[in-house]
Amino acid sequence: MTGAEALDLYQIEGGVPLNGEVQIQGSKNAVLPMMAASVLQKGCVCLKGCPDIADVQCMEQILQSIGARVWRIAGDLYVDCKEIDTGVIPGAYADKMRSSIILMGALLGRMGRIRVGRPGGCTIGERPINLHLSVLEALGVALEVEDGVIYARADRIKGGYYKFPKRSVGATENGILAAAAADGETVLENCAREPEIIHLCQFLRSMGANIVGEGSATIHIEGVKDLHETCFEVPADRIVAGTYLLACAVTRGNIRLTHAPIGEMQALLRVYKEMGGQYEVKGGKLIADSRHLNRPVPYLKTEEYPGFPTDLQSLLLTLCATIPGESRIEETIFEDRFKAALQIKHMGADVRVEGRVAVINGQNLHGATVKAEELRGGAALVLAGLGARGITRIGGICHIERGYQDICGDIRSLGGNISRQSTEEL
Ligand code: EPZ
Repeated sequence: MTGAEALDLYQIEGGVPLNGEVQIQGSKNAVLPMMAASVLQKGCVCLKGCPDIADVQCMEQILQSIGARVWRIAGDLYVDCKEIDTGVIPGAYADKMRSSIILMGALLGRMGRIRVGRPGGCTIGERPINLHLSVLEALGVALEVEDGVIYARADRIKGGYYKFPKRSVGATENGILAAAAADGETVLENCAREPEIIHLCQFLRSMGANIVGEGSATIHIEGVKDLHETCFEVPADRIVAGTYLLACAVTRGNIRLTHAPIGEMQALLRVYKEMGGQYEVKGGKLIADSRHLNRPVPYLKTEEYPGFPTDLQSLLLTLCATIPGESRIEETIFEDRFKAALQIKHMGADVRVEGRVAVINGQNLHGATVKAEELRGGAALVLAGLGARGITRIGGICHIERGYQDICGDIRSLGGNISRQSTEEL
């Protein structure tokens, strides 16, 4: 992050009910494993409607660093994997983005040996990778970890059996990617059920992979030697859609979301309705009316899909901070994901954290200067600014722009008063 980036900020004047229509961008968490999967074939893949966000740009750089060619035409990303000639992923990338670890399974399938830096933890938790390493070992991969660098080797990945001791989205994806071109059949049990797993398997199937069971606990993969080129539509981002629904709720507005993956948002929509939000689906659009939203959340816990997503926890917490009455939210997935809650206390929020449970008593928020420390917590600060009286300034926006293609433009299209500034201009 350059000095300049560190000084960029969002300025928000809150108190305006959002109103209008916004189109939801392509999914970050769906497209990153698809970009990794592209190295399993030796031609070119096209990812239509690929979001232009910092995490995708980082994955583009990683792919280019191993010999792939990457370019964009309008909103579509092209990845040409003909010339990939190394399994060594430069260490700097592992720190910059956890998802570099997702390349392991795919790159091993192609290069037979890889070297990748151990991804850093981040502010939401320690983020271990033991499950990634275990599933690869179950498929015959020899692994060594030395000074934070992972060395993996497998002349041929062999189909095998592995039961995850706990559900992990990334480790499930790594297992599928390693098994897709392996010798023989693989059975993975206690897999993550997130939509991103389903999208990855559909993408791989469009490349010729032989996979059944995605979206359930057990996935069967029959390795296929020659996976081939494909052109695939990136699905809409369920967390970005949830972000804008909650932004509408915080401002008691009413908006229309186009291209929202409504089927993947059921846990959020249930809570939204219980709080007094109203919505309908018309012509494929999600039409949300938050004008009568006024009920707190007595108790909610984040869970693996199809439960309430951890990625929307800090945004829901921010909404609860504006609703009179006591709300309780338990974070069960990551061990340190209440940082944004502590930031909104500077805006007058009444929040206390008791172990894994945040207790919130809603009241009016006022503008303040706050700082994003991670992606979804940063988005929660944007929502707090929209719901607060007065001016809010948010630093650390590079975290937010890892996952949101144009959060300012999107919110402005809904009538929100937000601008991106560099402190040099102030
Ligand atoms: C994915 O992260 C998402 N990231 C996260 O979204 C999301 O919060 C998370 O899934 C849960 O839904 C991407 O898809 C790029 P996990 P991932 O492995 O795969 C523990 C965002 O904001 N664990 O399902 O890293 C882990 O510590 C990001 O877009 C191990 O113990 O999550 C956590 O407690 C944030 N060992 C739990 O499992 C492992 O080897 C779930 O993590 C791996 C994970």
